[in-house]
Amino acid sequence: MSGDSKVIVTNQSGIHEKLNEVVNKHLSTQFQKPYQQHTKQAFAEIDLIVQQFDGEIILDACCGVGQSTRILAQQNPDALVIGVDKSAHRLKRNVEQAKLANDVVSAENCHLIRADLNDFYRLVLAAKWPVTRHYVLYPNPWPKSKHLQRRWHGSGVFPQMIKIGQQIILRSNWLLYLQEFLQAVEIAGLTGEIKSFVSDEPLTPFEAKYQASGQQCWQLVVMAN
Ligand SMILES: C[S@@+](CC[C@H](N)C(=O)[O-])C[C@H]1O[C@@H](n2cnc3c(N)ncnc32)[C@H](O)[C@@H]1O
Repeated sequence: MSGDSKVIVTNQSGIHEKLNEVVNKHLSTQFQKPYQQHTKQAFAEIDLIVQQFDGEIILDACCGVGQSTRILAQQNPDALVIGVDKSAHRLKRNVEQAKLANDVVSAENCHLIRADLNDFYRLVLAAKWPVTRHYVLYPNPWPKSKHLQRRWHGSGVFPQMIKIGQQIILRSNWLLYLQEFLQAVEIAGLTGEIKSFVSDEPLTPFEAKYQASGQQCWQLVVMAN
């Protein structure tokens, strides 16, 4: 995805025909991808802080420049809010923008981590972090049919990902992405609900762009069992 606010163009006419097969395969096999050293290291550092913290953890996966992480940290001063993104470039932009705005770059309860979630999710699950809300805001849609396995619900880490958080809050401007994710979690025995929404105060730059260009944004909330 280019990162602009264009309407999604896909060659799919509905839910991907291989969705159930792919999800069932991942649910019944062990995800074996070796862990990258940099993610293991980043996890070890933040895990020390999490293990000493006595309160709720909010995970902001795919946080991009970390705007949502900072807003959530301000809105939830008693929680530890952890934003994760694999792009050092995007995370660095957050620090620069926050400095320009004379904002708090690293509030005590706000941490931005560079890590690959394909590994990070498995480490979080193994460490049993007490995540209450798990946000995934505007993940890369990968709209071409052949890229199903690059969408989170088509990925090998999906079984671990959906075990993190009492709620998973997923937002997209592509309704089909959320419909597929919902169908995938239902295969795994969870439930969820999709609603359209408009926010007065966008949580992320992508949300702001979509709303400014008149596109409908959608939210799926998945409840843990
Ligand atoms: C479309 S952007 C959305 C960013 C932000 N949530 C927003 O709404 O402005 C998707 C983000 O997901 C991140 N991402 C994609 N795959 C990832 C992975 N495996 N691990 C960590 N971050 C990932 C990308 O680096 C990118 O910043």
